[in-house]
Amino acid sequence: MEAMPDLTQLSKRGYLKEPIPKDIDLPKEILRLKKEKNAVILAHYYQSKEIQELADYLGDSLYLAKAAQDISADVIVFAGVHFMAETAKIVNPTKKVLLPDLKAGCSLAHSCPPTDFAAFKAKHPGALVVTYINCSADIKALSDIVCTSSNAVAVIDSIPKDQPIIFAPDKNLGRYLIKETGRDLILWDGACVVHEAFSFEKIVALAKAHPDAKFIAHPESESQVLDIAHYIGSTSGLLNFIQKEAATTFIVATEAGILHEMQKKAPHKTFIPAPVEDDTCACSECAFMKLNTLEKLYLCMKHELPEINLSKELIAQAAEPINRMLAIT
Ligand code: 13P
Ligand code: SF4
Repeated sequence: MEAMPDLTQLSKRGYLKEPIPKDIDLPKEILRLKKEKNAVILAHYYQSKEIQELADYLGDSLYLAKAAQDISADVIVFAGVHFMAETAKIVNPTKKVLLPDLKAGCSLAHSCPPTDFAAFKAKHPGALVVTYINCSADIKALSDIVCTSSNAVAVIDSIPKDQPIIFAPDKNLGRYLIKETGRDLILWDGACVVHEAFSFEKIVALAKAHPDAKFIAHPESESQVLDIAHYIGSTSGLLNFIQKEAATTFIVATEAGILHEMQKKAPHKTFIPAPVEDDTCACSECAFMKLNTLEKLYLCMKHELPEINLSKELIAQAAEPINRMLAIT
């Protein structure tokens, strides 16, 4: 008989735990379960390479949100973080959406509690609320329009010039948007722990040691880092850039998981992860993203748990700003 998952442990840990036979071929089993359950796996570029290799859809936040909307399979398994799985549930609510580890959060989403944000919003009554997709469903429900790093400039540009705008939760992306669009945004004070860990001084030194290298960065990075970048873009933007550019060496300031796809797309090129302030940590890896493992993915598909559940009301409210974004891009 199939082992029953311990739901008490699931709520404490955020993931299922049971002994997995040592001789089991996890990738093979995951692919078998995918067929058996009529499931699809969506993975973000920041997942481990083993998980990326099993994905039916691999991409950035915008691509994955769009893909989730069109999925006809019964089960969506989201190898990413909580806000991404929530977004999949919001855009395709009749599907069962699974996340291998419910504790796979995001420092940006955590920086923006709904009660505090509602109070902030109340202080700026005439302002339109644009939120980065890296936030909870509750924050999306308080927003007018959502954006990702792929379409943030287009979203801000779509708003009349005289309209005051609140931008949350990423102050670094917000500052970048102020520069790019010439708009005066009211910023929420949130940041990504991974992108704030890069060391400006060490990047400058590394660039000097590799004078032919192009330095590329995700807009969640701090302003002084972005100021010296040859290219700034979302994960998919960075991937396109390294393929189009003639340069053969790139210093990459974003989560290190993307290097796997970069190396696959351009095997003859060299990718150097941007150095971080603290040499003793693996700070260019997102600890939240890396909570998902092959073992957790396997157990999650086997037991169809943990599942993302949201109330109908919250889905309806959070869907509106996401659909506005999807209509623009
Ligand atoms: P994109 O893949 O949309 O650029 O987002 C990066 C990110 O930090 C996701 O958490
Ligand atoms: Fe959140 Fe940063 Fe991790 Fe992306 S890399 S999920 S923004 S903590």
